[in-house]
Parts: sequence; C-alpha cells; structure tokens
Amino acid sequence: MKGLILSGGKGTRLRPFTYTQAKQLIPVANKPVLVRAIETIREADITEIGIVVGDTHAEIEKALGNGNQWGVNITYIPQPSPDGLAHAVKISHDFLGDERFVMYLGDNVIQGGIGSLIRDFAESDWNSQIVLKEVENAQSYGVAKLRPDGSIEKLIEKPKVPPSNLALVGIYMFDPHIWEAVNAIKPSPRGEYEITDAIQWMIDAGYQVYPHVHKGWWVDTGKAPDMLEANSLVLEELKPNISPESVIENSQIDRRVTVERGARIINSVVRGPTIIGENTVIENSYVGPFTSIYHHVTIQNCEIERSIILENSAIRDLHRRLQDSLIGRDVTIQHSDEKPQALKMNLGDHSTVWIL
Ligand code: DAU
Repeated sequence: MKGLILSGGKGTRLRPFTYTQAKQLIPVANKPVLVRAIETIREADITEIGIVVGDTHAEIEKALGNGNQWGVNITYIPQPSPDGLAHAVKISHDFLGDERFVMYLGDNVIQGGIGSLIRDFAESDWNSQIVLKEVENAQSYGVAKLRPDGSIEKLIEKPKVPPSNLALVGIYMFDPHIWEAVNAIKPSPRGEYEITDAIQWMIDAGYQVYPHVHKGWWVDTGKAPDMLEANSLVLEELKPNISPESVIENSQIDRRVTVERGARIINSVVRGPTIIGENTVIENSYVGPFTSIYHHVTIQNCEIERSIILENSAIRDLHRRLQDSLIGRDVTIQHSDEKPQALKMNLGDHSTVWIL
C-alpha cells in the first residue's frame, strides 16, 4: 500500500501566514502538521509516500527532503493549479500505479491510532474506506448521509443544509477502481474535481465503500483558531521531556512541560501542557498552558497563554497578557515608553490585532 498526502492549495483562510509559508508547514506542538501526517502514514507501515505540491513546493521540499528522517521515501507530485482533491489523485496515477493507497489531507491533524485502520484496509477486499466524524458545523465539510444499516447513501460537499452531522475527515482509502471514478466525474459548481463526487460515483457503480466513524478528536487546520485548537489537543497528549541540554534557573516548571535542546528559562513560571523550542529564551515571564514556543524565540517580561509563537520572534515587556494568539516568524512585539504614547504597528496584509 502507498500513501498520498495533499499539500497543494492556496491556504487563503490562513493569511497572512500563508503569504510566506505553506499552511501545512505551520507547527502544532513544535512539529509541522505535514510531518504529523507522514508519521501517521508511517504508523501503518507505509513507507512510499507521494506528496502533491503546488506553489509552495520549494519550501515543502526543503523542509521534508527525501523523507529519510522519518523512515519514508517521498516522491513530489507537482499540481499545476489546485483543481480539486480528485484532480490531485488523478495526476498521481503514475506514482500510485495499481496499488491500494491511503490519501491524507496535509492540513488535517487527527488523534493517534488511525494506523491500524489503514492496515486493516490494506488487507481487506473493500474498494474504499472513508473516515467520518460527528461535528457541529457540518456545512463546512463534505458530509455523509448513512442508511439505517450504516452503509453510505450519499456524500455531499459543503451542503448548505447538511443531511447529517457526519463530516468527512481528510483520510480516504482506495483500491484501483478509484481511477474509473476520477476519470468519469466532471468539475463541481465551484469548479473543482471533488473527491466526494468520485466516491459517490463508486457507490453508485456498486463498489464497496465503508464508513468508519472516528471517536477521537480531529481538526482541519484551515483557520487560525483551528491551529490553536489542534495545538492544545496535541500538547495534552505530548509526553513531556526536559532536555539535559537546556538551562533552567530560578524557575517553576510544571510537570507537563517539554523543554527542547538549548532553551534557557530564567526567573520564570511555565505551566503545562506547554513546549519551549530549541534555543529559545524565556526570561522574567509566565508561559501558561496550551502554548507552543518554537525555536530561537525570545520572551522577556511577558505573560503568554494558549498561543503559538513561531521561530525567531521576540516579545518583550508587554503590560498585558498575550492569549489565544498565533504569532508568525521573525515578529517583534514590544512595549515602548516613547512619547507620544500611541499604538505603533507594522502589519502585513490580512493581519488581525485585538486591542483592549
Ligand atoms: O478537512 C476535511 C475536508 O477537506 C473534507 O470534509 C472535505 O470533503 C474536503 O473537500 C476538504 O475540504 P477543504 O475545503 O478543507 O479542502 P482544502 O481546499 O483545504 O484542501 C485540503 C488539502 O488538500 C490541503 O492540504 C490543500 C490540498 N489540496 C487542495 C486542493 C483543492 C491540494 O493539494 N490540491 C487541490 O487541488
């Protein structure tokens, strides 16, 4: 069985981050979402992985290389434009050949344990398996309507009036009959080749498509609040570890805290679950629960809670607590005593600031 991860697309809902960074490379608990996808597929003993890439291909290839670091072999599959999930499958035919495969959306984060489900499909004679999850806002996803016997009656992409609360999670498994389906379907009204239409085609043609309802958590990290939610959920499951190559001086560190190599925590309080990245400095500060601070960050005289701070940023002397925030790379946030006492900002397009 092979793996296919979709990492093209434009990520418009995560601007401004996605002006300069592929959304799938934004880390939760200090590990890019895309790397978590690779690890999930690897858990199912799959080592041949194709990654569909678009405009951000150079950055993704630089971050992942040939995949050796994660014990997999990566083939990059360029998609000229984001014409839909079924289109991404279609252009991957040469790589996948006639093997069964699992397709994983590169911006999804799912609670562990899905590896055995994928392995079961590898050994089954089903034509396809999809993963569903009960959600509150089903209109934002592909939605499945099941028959009383649990089989799938209908799949609809982002319906205005959802026929159920069962959303399609971004994990799909197929046998070679998917090729007939992706070649038969036409673009949807929004102009994309929808994978939901391809699976519906398989159901209508009489192929065996099985739904699995996932009981654990799942987050589609499409928007900033979703990233913070995924970050909190992953941090809660992270096995804490304090690197022997870190320095902790005169500080209180909760037992659910991970401190990576080269980090320095001085005169501070850190409450878990939290992760402090490599070579980051926390000084005279409080870093509260559900916070991920990536590498080479400086935090001085601040209070931060439930946030993600990306690499090389510096936050100093804030008089108010920073909370529920996603801060990009190379960002400076600093208190100033200069007159006139005014807010001074250099914000890129599509930034958001909340001021009390
Ligand atoms: O997250 C689950 C949902 O994912 C499902 O419930 C929907 O049925 C499914 O259509 C999909 O909806 P999204 O609107 O979230 O898809 P998005 O455009 O965000 O694309 C998902 C991933 O696939 C993302 O990593 C980008 C990549 N992609 C997307 C398109 C449209 C590609 O690689 N190529 C593409 O052409």
